[in-house]
Amino acid sequence: MTTRIDFDLKPSAQPLSAAEREAVLADPGFGRHFTDHMVTIKWTEGRGWHDAQLQPYAPLQIDPANMTLHYAQTIFEGLKAYRQPDGSVATFRPDANARRFQRSAHRLAMPELPVETFVEACDLLVSTDREWVPSQGEQSLYLRPFMFATEVGLGVRPSNEYLFMVIASPAGAYFPQGVKPVSVWLSEEYVRAAPGGMGEAKTGGNYAASLVAQAEAAAQGCDQVVWLDALERRYIEEMGGMNLYLVRGTGDDVTIVTPQLTGTLLPGITRDSLLRIAEDLGYGTEEARVSTDDWQSGDADGTLTEVFACGTAAVITPVGHVKSARAEWTVGDGETGPVTKRLRDALLAIQTGQAPDPYAWMH
Ligand code: COI
Repeated sequence: MTTRIDFDLKPSAQPLSAAEREAVLADPGFGRHFTDHMVTIKWTEGRGWHDAQLQPYAPLQIDPANMTLHYAQTIFEGLKAYRQPDGSVATFRPDANARRFQRSAHRLAMPELPVETFVEACDLLVSTDREWVPSQGEQSLYLRPFMFATEVGLGVRPSNEYLFMVIASPAGAYFPQGVKPVSVWLSEEYVRAAPGGMGEAKTGGNYAASLVAQAEAAAQGCDQVVWLDALERRYIEEMGGMNLYLVRGTGDDVTIVTPQLTGTLLPGITRDSLLRIAEDLGYGTEEARVSTDDWQSGDADGTLTEVFACGTAAVITPVGHVKSARAEWTVGDGETGPVTKRLRDALLAIQTGQAPDPYAWMH
């Protein structure tokens, strides 16, 4: 069976001028500006994937009884395209995003888009809007593939039609303060995901559920929320929308530890990439259950030297300070540690083409 799909190309008649685009690229922020085009592919029960189009970026018209608005059958991905030293553009591990998108679709009873079609859709948008890929430092073009139910009706069941789309947005630093250690609030009141729930899927509901906890973190004077396991509220899971790593040891004896994928965590592609890079840099790696008590005592006795969060949007963000209802402590010296910095630099060097890519991740 061939999975290739033919795209109908409808280029924008009014793309932004080069001067307007350059003004945006001078300070893109994150997720504030969108490129000239978008990709759409429909799926209909009995017909499968059809009507693939590249078309001008434009608002959608949505029926008030659209199922997604009511029952949240929607999934998304995030990946980045980077300008390479020779002027070309490469995306980072789009096939890994495509496979995770399939797993998210499965969890939400949605049709699975073939990996090749997902990658082709991203390639088409990037190549059409390649002038939008920034070339400054670690800036990138953030791609947002997503899919949602388009059937109209209020019955609670899987929709019989869906729309897959890709949009793109030039991206600078995700956190406005740049790469500075963040403070985190350990949330014991709210949980992100429970066993058997949707924690592994990249679906809007998980992010909607995070907002009140994030507001609680802010009320506690913290930048971000850290999620604990649903059953005991004892084990560390994630930070906001990012995976977490703890660094044990110093010098030649360093191990990076990340919460194991229990089904309630998002299996991050940056998380996975760092396991590989760390091993090749000579660090030990461990996927384990880590309790908040281990975190606090490790910082108290100096065995735990650094903590950082990782994800596509913010790459790697150091964690400098921790607060909970019972305790408050500083991670290491509260600054960005050498292991965090080395891993961040190594990953970005591959993504921006400053270093060879021994893993064949760049596409
Ligand atoms: C990412 O880091 O890729 C994320 O998932 C954050 C995004 C929801 C903005």
